[in-house]
Amino acid sequence: MTSAPRPGSGWWQRRLDIASLRRSMLDREMPSGLTWWHTLGSATLTVFLLQAVTGAVLAMYYAPSPDHAYESIRYLEGQVHLGRVLRGVHNWGASAMVVLALLHMVRVFSFGAYKYPREANWVVGVGLLGLVMAFGFTGYLLPWDQRAYWATQVGTSIAGTVPGVGGAVAVLLRGGTQLGAETLTRFYALHVLWLPAAIIGLIGLHLVMIVRQGIAAPPRVLEEAAPARTDADDYAAHYDKTVGRAKRGGPRFWPDIIAKDAVVSLLTVAVIVGLAMVEGAPLEAPADPTDTSYVPLPEWYFLPFYQLLKLVPGSMESTVAVGIPAFLALTLLGLPFFDRSSRRHLRGRPLALAGLVAVLGGSALLLGAALGEIAPPSESPSGVALSSVERAGRATFQRQCAGCHVVGDEGGEEGPELTDIGTRHGSAWLHSFIENPQRFHPESEMSSFGPPTLSHQEIEEVARYLTTLRGPRGQTLPMAIADTFPEPSTPVR
Ligand code: HEC
Repeated sequence: MTSAPRPGSGWWQRRLDIASLRRSMLDREMPSGLTWWHTLGSATLTVFLLQAVTGAVLAMYYAPSPDHAYESIRYLEGQVHLGRVLRGVHNWGASAMVVLALLHMVRVFSFGAYKYPREANWVVGVGLLGLVMAFGFTGYLLPWDQRAYWATQVGTSIAGTVPGVGGAVAVLLRGGTQLGAETLTRFYALHVLWLPAAIIGLIGLHLVMIVRQGIAAPPRVLEEAAPARTDADDYAAHYDKTVGRAKRGGPRFWPDIIAKDAVVSLLTVAVIVGLAMVEGAPLEAPADPTDTSYVPLPEWYFLPFYQLLKLVPGSMESTVAVGIPAFLALTLLGLPFFDRSSRRHLRGRPLALAGLVAVLGGSALLLGAALGEIAPPSESPSGVALSSVERAGRATFQRQCAGCHVVGDEGGEEGPELTDIGTRHGSAWLHSFIENPQRFHPESEMSSFGPPTLSHQEIEEVARYLTTLRGPRGQTLPMAIADTFPEPSTPVR
């Protein structure tokens, strides 16, 4: 009696020819001289996978409607085990994607790796960068808090300034003339269905081309004895010969290159998770479409552009709003087709170097200016650094309480100043007081903020924020907390 064949490598080999797959995918020869800069592409891919997984889990808790979106995120952060970290990872991962994709692009640009034969793959890469930004823009709205609402309001109005089609584009994005429920479902569908489908398609294409064409050999190797231009008749032959030489005795994709990629990818993920655990993701007060005093801020990677728009005179604004992105996109897309010199290293390309310095330097200056102007203080008026819970409490305080109470040098006069309240009361006392002041002072003119006005979670956040108020900045007051609570028999009104 013969035993049934067990699925082993022979079993798969006969059916799928694993060996040749392995040869073409893993045993690929790579040119020598690859640097750590060459790991940025795979790190971007790793973060994309991280975003896909965390996004899929977030979608299990998220409710894409203006009535429930904000609450569903509060629930996730407050009640779901590791919910805060999960959202933090997705938030920091989004920024990491942009940083890594840009750095990867700068590397490809600086090594002239977009030149023959990789022109098409550069174009795919530019498309991928556009999709990453579209993910950022659509994802920003989903928490439906103040910054989400107002930043999207500004973003969609900028789209609306495009001459001719602008109005139609804005209506298409918003799902109507106003930003509302339609906008949210539309952005959600874009963020979780359309954009992922598009990006998976382009990533697939990008990878297929990378496997077919291999990684570009170092610039110095490709430049040696090269014809002056990449569209010269003999360039292709020169290229094949040099690449063949560069690969001889070079590293293999598996395990040499993969190991280096894995180090950088793991480090990146560790940094993202670390930031998520320490910082979490921002969440402000729920969106209030009537609060036109709110100063909206886009995600940081749109800030240089936002700052630029602030600098140009009003009459030029729509020209710049449309002109600059269009110019950048066309330049990037056209780059491999008009730059056909065979020089690859940035050292031999003064114009390219000047362009890169101008774009990166200009963006950095604008970003710096923008951050300097609008950095929201992340410490209390007493100079205590605030956690995300305390920051949420500060937001609620500014909405509900600042009208009657002075903190620092802002606020209304009706109630007592609270700048040093944290030296006199602990958070438990503050929580009970805010919930029902009349239990403590029957004549109190302060109304009760217990549910339904504020939820217990919000009261707790406000109470925690108040404990950070320990007198004016730079002054150290003695702590004198001796909290007394009313008798339990006191009727609760
Ligand atoms: C309508 C005006 C008004 C609003 C709004 C208001 N308060 Fe008050 N608050 C008062 C007045 C008046 C007092 C003093 C009377 C008392 O102590 O009961 C007071 C007292 C307090 C005290 C006690 C101060 C002390 O030194 O014992 C705290 C703490 C406090 N408020 C916090 C808050 C918080 C937090 C909010 C927002 C959730 C808030 N207040 C909203 C008017 C207001």
